[in-house]
Amino acid sequence: MKVVLHIWRQARASTSADFAQDGRMVRYELADVSPDMSFLEMLDVLNEHLIGKGEEPVAFDHDCREGICGTCSLVINGRAHGPERGTTACQLHMRSFQDGAEIWVEPWRAKPFPVVRDLVVDRSAFDRIVQAGAFISVRTGAAPDANAIPVPKDDAEKAFDAATCIGCGACVAACKNASAMLFVGAKVSHFAHLPQGRVERERRARNLVAAMDAEGFGNCTNQYECEAACPKEIPVRVIADLNREFTKAKIKG
Ligand code: FES
Repeated sequence: MKVVLHIWRQARASTSADFAQDGRMVRYELADVSPDMSFLEMLDVLNEHLIGKGEEPVAFDHDCREGICGTCSLVINGRAHGPERGTTACQLHMRSFQDGAEIWVEPWRAKPFPVVRDLVVDRSAFDRIVQAGAFISVRTGAAPDANAIPVPKDDAEKAFDAATCIGCGACVAACKNASAMLFVGAKVSHFAHLPQGRVERERRARNLVAAMDAEGFGNCTNQYECEAACPKEIPVRVIADLNREFTKAKIKG
């Protein structure tokens, strides 16, 4: 199949508040695309052509290519991770597009995720939020100890739903406020539903919200775009969990 690509090209890291000053969309035609290729394999083919012509290949992030690491981050035709629901860009296949389709590919657009080059953005703001407390620091023993602590089925399922977050940042890219509350909510909800995570729940909620605000992410205004864009289909319920945990922590002081 053939496709016409319009890809954001940006030679160096963002410097201006207006991203349009830093790069531009460049048109490419690609004729030898298999419908069974993943979207990233299609970009690999494009890069082979560009390198063959002595041009700079398109920079894009990827690691596992199996939908588990959260590294791939492309806005495809205006949607974070592209047109398929519950699918990362690396698991998206070209059969999702018509022969001859025109496809626009851009990086995540959010101030806390500055563009580094082409389609690559700096998501270290998420790392700093995790470092603020998205972990358990109390001694929890070995696996047999964990197995000996009963967890109600409903709590276990809610914790597991939240734990599927891969930290890709699609929730931020899809939100008009660049809110990270689905991401932070997933971390807080995950641990708040487990006995081992409850020990530090107040401190965790306070610290994660403070880190999120310090990084410049916006607030949730109930647009639900984050839930629609999330490749792991994490429900907005985790934002309610975050608000509840944060309010309780503030009351306790
Ligand atoms: S490359 Fe790992 S989730 Fe896409």
